[in-house]
Amino acid sequence: MIVLKTGRELSVMREACKISARALKLIGEAIEPGVTTAELDRIAEKFIRSCGATPNFKGYNGYPATACISINNEVIHGIPTAKRKIQNGDIVSVDLGALFEGYHGDNAATFACGDVSEEAKRLMDATRESLYEGIKMARAGGRIGDISNAIQSYVEARGYSVVRDFVGHGVGTSLHEAPEVPNFGVAGRGVRLMPGMTLAIEPMINIGKPQVKIMPDGWTVLTQDGSLSAHFEHTIAITADGPQIMTIA
Ligand code: MF3
Ligand code: CO
Repeated sequence: MIVLKTGRELSVMREACKISARALKLIGEAIEPGVTTAELDRIAEKFIRSCGATPNFKGYNGYPATACISINNEVIHGIPTAKRKIQNGDIVSVDLGALFEGYHGDNAATFACGDVSEEAKRLMDATRESLYEGIKMARAGGRIGDISNAIQSYVEARGYSVVRDFVGHGVGTSLHEAPEVPNFGVAGRGVRLMPGMTLAIEPMINIGKPQVKIMPDGWTVLTQDGSLSAHFEHTIAITADGPQIMTIA
């Protein structure tokens, strides 16, 4: 069931999203060679709790941390650990959210640590830009497939591939709600978009092939071919005036 949010609900949700965006920004600012992913996780958790909010990934299906931190060929769901230091040249995908007064925010970004390769920069740029292409299509009267197709066309035109095994989603009083928001699909197909819908749009884009595999830890998703992967996500609301990005710091 797709739940439409009222203006009052959206204003609370915007707070959850702002906290999520600020926590993500804090991690981005703390990324440097030698920092461990556990240290980054702690920064975000401390901030989210200081806002009177809760890290909404922690405990979700047994997930043990505030953030997912996925490096280079890791696509999503990397588990922060004191054993993993970020190195110069890494690209670091960070995904996290906050639950505030009953509403969830969810956002992600891929950050460069130091001097990253031109090919990594191009991948990150294309992935970020594809998210905005998708968001532009999040308009009442359109369909989910319009968002999906905009993302897919944008990245495939640049030679990248879209991960199929994970998708974006509705978000609200639950972290994951209907509808699914795939990053691939056909324009004009799928659920009709309506004012009051709140969506987490989150392209996961690989330089190589779209296939992924899961590490023995049961969480970390890697590209099967070892190629680099990037991930950007915003929580947005569809309003009568068009799409509104809510995960703004
Ligand atoms: N980051 C995922 C999403 O954006 C959810 C994370 S699953 C968790 O939908 F278990 F890691 F929390
Ligand atoms: Co999400």
